[in-house]
Amino acid sequence: MQINKKSKIFIAGHNGMVGSSIVRHFKNKGYKNLFLKSRKSLDLVDQKKTYSYIKKIKPDFVIIAAAKVGGIFINNEKKAEFIYENIMIQTNLIHSSFLAGVKKLIFLGSSCIYPKYSKQPIKENYLMTGKLEETNDAYAIAKIAGLKMCDAYNKQYKTNYLCLMPTNLYGPNDNYNLKTSHFFPAIISKIHFALKREVKNIKIWGDGTPKRELMYVDDLADACEFFLKKKTKHSLINIGSGEEKSILKYYKFVIKKLNINVKISFDKKKPNGTPQKKLDLTLAKSYGWKSKYNLTKGFDLTYKDYLKRIDR
Ligand SMILES: NC(=O)c1ccc[n+]([C@@H]2O[C@H](COP(=O)([O-])OP(=O)(O)OC[C@H]3O[C@@H](n4cnc5c(N)ncnc54)[C@H](OP(=O)(O)O)[C@@H]3O)[C@@H](O)[C@H]2O)c1
Repeated sequence: MQINKKSKIFIAGHNGMVGSSIVRHFKNKGYKNLFLKSRKSLDLVDQKKTYSYIKKIKPDFVIIAAAKVGGIFINNEKKAEFIYENIMIQTNLIHSSFLAGVKKLIFLGSSCIYPKYSKQPIKENYLMTGKLEETNDAYAIAKIAGLKMCDAYNKQYKTNYLCLMPTNLYGPNDNYNLKTSHFFPAIISKIHFALKREVKNIKIWGDGTPKRELMYVDDLADACEFFLKKKTKHSLINIGSGEEKSILKYYKFVIKKLNINVKISFDKKKPNGTPQKKLDLTLAKSYGWKSKYNLTKGFDLTYKDYLKRIDR
């Protein structure tokens, strides 16, 4: 069944940064039948409730943007919660979708599923060829279980479940809490407050050398629609921008954008994380998809949203 503007689409995790971007994108494109449920009204960790809901609404398509998500600090601190909640959420959704006869499902993973010292750029088939980064291994193992589950269902039951592996994301509705956020929203928040409080020195976690690829979240939403429409032979596809800089260079980029005069120092006792995570995008491109936003445009839109948020 081809997706059309009347198809029933369940977007799990629609309040999050990725989920809200997907909702905006699908609404803008004229999709009329979106099903949305906040965690308060449906806890996806609960198997019975998840299944009853999916059975009741019988969606044609499901996008899984619900997950327990966070940056290096919280991933390392709350490994048990990260592995338990993520495995429960995705397992409940994938299996319920199978029982309800969902036509196509997209599961969102993350580039941290790949080995810590992977060859660069990282191709999809480098999965499980080396040790994971220790700080987020619980999260990565949960995501790997999700993609292997999709793969197993596709092989045994001939389902159409696709795993998109996005690189680091940023955009409107991001999480700016320094304890739980990813690196880029943390940079924006730290530099914004340095500007407001006239702080003269900013400390970077680690030595600033790790390189990160970064993509504006609306590009991922676009990829979700593109790949729901597209017939694919592969069940794992990397999604990225191809734009990569060191953490230090991202600090310098935001410092320049906010036009602030600060000195940078390094807290080298803090972990660096994976040295480099650049995704190989050949496969996504071979299907005809590529990102549209560059960092400057994405940052301007993100910072505008950030200012609205902290003003509230
Ligand atoms: N952010 C990134 O840089 C990034 C990079 C690569 C991949 N991804 C992937 O993209 C997906 C979404 O990430 P995000 O950044 O949008 O995260 P997010 O902003 O934290 O959003 C996660 C969403 O999941 C929902 N959720 C969590 N636990 C739930 C539960 N037990 N029941 C129901 N809903 C639950 C939350 O609902 P409530 O708001 O109602 O609590 C929230 O809407 C994840 O799979 C992540 O791995 C993110």
